[in-house]
Amino acid sequence: MLTGKTAIVTGAAGDLGNAMARQLAERGAHVVMWDIVPRAEAAEAIERVQAHDAAVAYAEVDVRERIAVDAAIADMPQVDIVCSNAGIVEAQPFLELSQANWQNHLDINLTGCFNVCQSAARRMVADGTKGRIILTSSWVAQIPWPEITAYTVSKAGVNMLVKQMARELAAHGILVNAVAPGIVDAGLAGRQLREEPQYAARVAKVIPLGAPGTPEEIASAVVYLASPQTNYMTGSILTLDGGCSLFQFDA
Ligand SMILES: NC(=O)c1ccc[n+]([C@@H]2O[C@H](COP(=O)([O-])OP(=O)(O)OC[C@H]3O[C@@H](n4cnc5c(N)ncnc54)[C@H](O)[C@@H]3O)[C@@H](O)[C@H]2O)c1
Repeated sequence: MLTGKTAIVTGAAGDLGNAMARQLAERGAHVVMWDIVPRAEAAEAIERVQAHDAAVAYAEVDVRERIAVDAAIADMPQVDIVCSNAGIVEAQPFLELSQANWQNHLDINLTGCFNVCQSAARRMVADGTKGRIILTSSWVAQIPWPEITAYTVSKAGVNMLVKQMARELAAHGILVNAVAPGIVDAGLAGRQLREEPQYAARVAKVIPLGAPGTPEEIASAVVYLASPQTNYMTGSILTLDGGCSLFQFDA
């Protein structure tokens, strides 16, 4: 289905990004994995993708560094699909929220997406590629989950970035959408579930479908957004949250 396409996945050494890279490779795409994790530490994540794309590439690219992002894109023979997925979360109650914590979330989660998506979009336009840009938002982009102000604000920015890019890039045939995962028992939330008892207690009360999601479920939605099945879809935020955002809860 994606044979002949080249896909960049940022944060591809992490849990959700690695599942995206694997599933895109399984559908025939050539995958270029980006992360700040040194290559040696990402060996297992690379091998998992290699099982489906023997030529998978890995580059240490910090999405905050625009010059590095532009250089990495210029190095690629073609860019068809971009998954702008790298992100962080570090909980701090609002009254204790440091300026450094705030800035770090905006730099990685929002400016990082701007850097990657604008650079890739410029390349797609220059090449005449009718590409796909898929961002990783979050169900909390619209819900003030406790103690993660910088994170929720950064993801709210991601949602508007999706819509703005979708509008301006439509004329070039470039489609821009996002997945909005709920609570996934892996990656950022997986660490919080293990390390923060108050988080685990809140989570137990808020998922109507009864359990956290999996990276594979989120990656399947990314494949859908990269596929011809979504040729008429742009500017959408596809929520996969087990129903979390459907009701008011006491967290
Ligand atoms: N896990 C969840 O429940 C959940 C829920 C909603 C949204 N998300 C989103 O999914 C995305 C992936 O998160 P995850 O849960 O797989 O976490 P993760 O920590 O497993 O993966 C994130 C990856 O991003 C990389 N990264 C961090 N800063 C970077 C930078 N400056 N440049 C390049 N790479 C960088 C990390 O090294 C890591 O490998 C994030 O955008 C996150 O906000 C996750």
